[in-house]
Order: sequence, then C-alpha cells, then structure tokens
Amino acid sequence: MDEQVIQKTILSGIQPTGQLTIGNYIGAMKNFVRLQNDYETLYMVVDLHALTVPQDPKELRHKTLSVIAQYISVGLDPEKNNLFIQSHVTGHTELTWILGCLTGLGDLNRMTQFKDKSSKPGANINAGLYTYPILMASDILLYNADFVPVGEDQKQHVELTRDIAMKFNYRYSDTFTIPEPIIPKSGARIMDLQNPLAKMSKSDSGESGRLALIDEPSVIAKKIKSAVTDSGSEIKFSEDEEKAGIRNLLTIYSNLTELSIADIELKYKSRGYGDFKKDLADIVVEKLSPIKLKHDDLMKNKDYLESVLKSGAESAQKKAWKMLGKVYRKIGLVQAAR
Ligand code: AMP
Ligand code: TRP
Repeated sequence: MDEQVIQKTILSGIQPTGQLTIGNYIGAMKNFVRLQNDYETLYMVVDLHALTVPQDPKELRHKTLSVIAQYISVGLDPEKNNLFIQSHVTGHTELTWILGCLTGLGDLNRMTQFKDKSSKPGANINAGLYTYPILMASDILLYNADFVPVGEDQKQHVELTRDIAMKFNYRYSDTFTIPEPIIPKSGARIMDLQNPLAKMSKSDSGESGRLALIDEPSVIAKKIKSAVTDSGSEIKFSEDEEKAGIRNLLTIYSNLTELSIADIELKYKSRGYGDFKKDLADIVVEKLSPIKLKHDDLMKNKDYLESVLKSGAESAQKKAWKMLGKVYRKIGLVQAAR
C-alpha cells in the first residue's frame, strides 16, 4: 500500500504598506519561492496588519493588489501556492480574540517592533499596533503552519506565536502545531542604503535608502551609486560598525549572484568601490527588470489577479473554518445550530 505523504505547511505574509524592497525579497520572498515545490504553501498580503498605521484607502487597495502581482512576478506560481488577502478569509480576527485572552500584557510589552514603533516622535499608538503580534500568531496558527519564512525582525513575533500555541495546547489539549521560523543565514536584515545602521524598510526608509522591486533601472543605478560606504577603498566584509555600508552591499551582491562573500572579495581585490557599485547596479537591474515588467503587465490584468485571489481565498477559507471550529469546540463555545 502506498504510504500517504503528508506535506508540511509553510505560511508567511507581507504588509501592503509601501513598495516591496530588495530587503523583503532577500529576507523573505526568496525563501517563499524556494519552498513552493515541496510544501503546502500559503502566502498572504496582510492588509489588516497594515491598518495599524494610517492608510489612504485608495492607495491601500492599489498596494494590496500590487503585492499579489509582485508575489507572482518573483516566481510564485498561483497553481502551486495559496496566494490570498488576509481580509478575504474569515477566522483571522476571530482567532485573534481568543488568543488575545491567553496573551499576557508583559509579553506584548516586550515586543521590540512595538517598542520601536511606539517610541517614534508623533507615533500613533493604537490598540491594533499593540495587539499586532496576536493577529500574526492567528495567521500562523489558523493553518497549523510548520514553518514561517521571515526576515530577522519577525523572529520575536514567531517566538511569541510558539509561546501562545504551547499555552493553548497545555490548557485545552494538543491543538496547534508549534511553528518554526525559517530565517536566511545571510541577508535576514538588509540595511538602508543611506543609513546602513537602520533596516531597509518600505515604509520608514527614505526614497534613496531603499531599492524597490519595481524601481526603474535608472533609479536603481542611481541609488546604488549614491549608497553610503566609508572613506576606505577595500571591498572587504567586516563586522566593524563603520563598514556597515559596504557589508550591506556585499550581502546584496552575494544573495543575488549566489557567489560567496570570499569569492566576491577576491574578484574585487585590487579594485575600488566605484567598480564594485557599477557591477552591483548591473546585477540588481538584471534581477529586478523582469520582475517589474511582469508586475506592470499583471496590474493591467485585474481579472486574472482576481481569479488568483478567489481560488487562493477559497482554499484558505476551508482550512480556516475547520481550525476555527476545532478551537471553538475545545474552549467550550456552544456549536451553532445549522
Ligand atoms: P514587512 O515589510 O514588514 O511586511 O515584512 C515582510 C517580510 O520581509 C518579513 O518577513 C520581514 O522580516 C522581511 N523583511 C522586511 N524588511 C527586511 C529587510 N530589510 N531585510 C530582510 N528582511 C526584511
Ligand atoms: N508581521 C509581519 C511583518 O511585518 C507580516 C506578517 C503578518 C506575517 N502575518 C504573518 C509574517 C504571518 C509571517 C507569518 O513582516
């Protein structure tokens, strides 16, 4: 008799809060693509998370579709992956309430992303920003995800998710899979080109500090050329703080070419930053141009995007209802008569 192979589940999400950056790609999406053939995969656009900071409704709609188009453009096959929008599936916010009743304030107070965001001058500190990690835990646990590919900055949120899942399982018996993060060894934290001591962010970095997946080639070349380095000239990877700029550029180079840092250092042994940056610009343009072209094309074909989203949400919704029903039963909610 054939043994039935049960595929493990991968799940991740990206917020539609700006144009996706090369940090999103190297830190998270590259792994999304790599994992799509061997696992059951669910990749969302987390529009509800985006509401934790003020959004222009029209722009939010556009950016949400654009992220889906970029998922497909970087190589996620809609036939193989569940691509969907978080708000299209009922269950994420319902589970958030239940898990919120199990989450200590102390745990939420420890979250560095909340501390960073709420300590910014003029920050809009709303309850959503505070409970954001519980919504993320619900995203993950609702589908019993085994693995969660993310960049370094999301590690703490996945750890909180594990704690919440264990707490639930302990109190109500085994229900949730305890998820593990998948974080790349290199490139888990791509830095701002203008301030290489800060993370490259689609919403916080200035225009010249971030490389968007859908930037024009001439813009990419200009941004790389003006990236902050230091007064040295040697192309060398160093953990020194003052070398953060060149270290970041080397990390991007290595991740896009799959060459090791040592090989790149050797290649530029007696050459300067100027040569190196010029080549890096060519490499980034070569990688991103087809993504931009495909994205722009897909954005003209909204019917197609909608059909992808419809089938993604339908299949995610089936899984979500099943899990939510199980959770409701376990915690003692009376089943509704149908
Ligand atoms: P966000 O842009 O916050 O929605 O993040 C989406 C995914 O990209 C998450 O897995 C992040 O950890 C990852 N990510 C965001 N910015 C970076 C960055 N600068 N370097 C590496 N990964 C990143
Ligand atoms: N909080 C994540 C970020 O900002 C996005 C996210 C929401 C997510 N839900 C998720 C990532 C579930 C992984 C799994 O990057």
